[in-house]
Amino acid sequence: MSNNQKKDRPTPAIVVSKYNNYLVTDLETLKKSDGEKLDTQPVTGLCRCGGSKMKPYCDGTHNEKGLNEVKKKDRVPDKVRTYHGKDILIYDNRGVCSHDRSCVEMLPEVFDRDKKPWIEPDGASVTKIIETIEQCPSGALSYGFGDRRFQEWGQETPAITTSKDGPLKVTGGVLLKDDGGCQPECKEHYTLCRCGGSHNKPFCDGEHLDNDFEAD
Ligand code: SF4
Ligand code: FES
Repeated sequence: MSNNQKKDRPTPAIVVSKYNNYLVTDLETLKKSDGEKLDTQPVTGLCRCGGSKMKPYCDGTHNEKGLNEVKKKDRVPDKVRTYHGKDILIYDNRGVCSHDRSCVEMLPEVFDRDKKPWIEPDGASVTKIIETIEQCPSGALSYGFGDRRFQEWGQETPAITTSKDGPLKVTGGVLLKDDGGCQPECKEHYTLCRCGGSHNKPFCDGEHLDNDFEAD
C-alpha cells in the first residue's frame, strides 16, 4: 500500500456515550490476548457492560442490563505524581492504573506496592526503567528527563487487544471520542473498562479483579 493510501485512511476512533456500547470506527486490528485476529466492520460494536455472550463484541445485553457510565465519587483521583531520581523522573497517575501488575513483576526494585513511596526511581538502571514503563498498558506510568516528559513510544499500528478477564488495551493512537469529554492520560495507549464495574469509566481501574469478570 502506498503512503498516500495510508494517509487517506480515516484515523480509527472509539465513540463513547453514556447510553451505548463502544462504537469503534475504521479499525483494522482487533485481537485477542493470544494474538488471534478478530473481524472488524467499518463500525464495530464492542461490549462495555460485561454482559455480552459474544465478547468482545456487543450483543445488545446493555439494553436490558442498563449502563451506569458515570464516574464514581469514591474513585482514585486523576492526579499525576512525580518521583525524582538522580537520572530519571517517573510520573504516575494512580487514577488510571488498570492493575495488570506488569511494572511490579518486571521491576520490583523500582515498583513495589508494599513500600512507601511505592516508586524508587534510583532502584534500577534508566534503560530497565524505560523498558518497564513502556509496557504499562494504561498510560498511568511515564518518564522524563529535566523538563521533558515522555508518554508515547511511537506505536504505529492502531489496535485494540483484549486482555484475559480484563480491559480492552488500546494502542497506536486510536482516538477516544467521549461525549462527556473524557480523554486518556496518554492518547497513544490506554485501557478501557469492559467488565462494567470501573469507578472511572470509560477507563479501567482494576475493578475487574474484584468482580470475577471472565472473558477471552
Ligand atoms: S497499568 Fe501500569 S502502573 Fe498499573 S500495574 Fe500495570 S504497568 Fe503498573
Ligand atoms: S475491565 Fe478493568 S475495571 Fe472493568
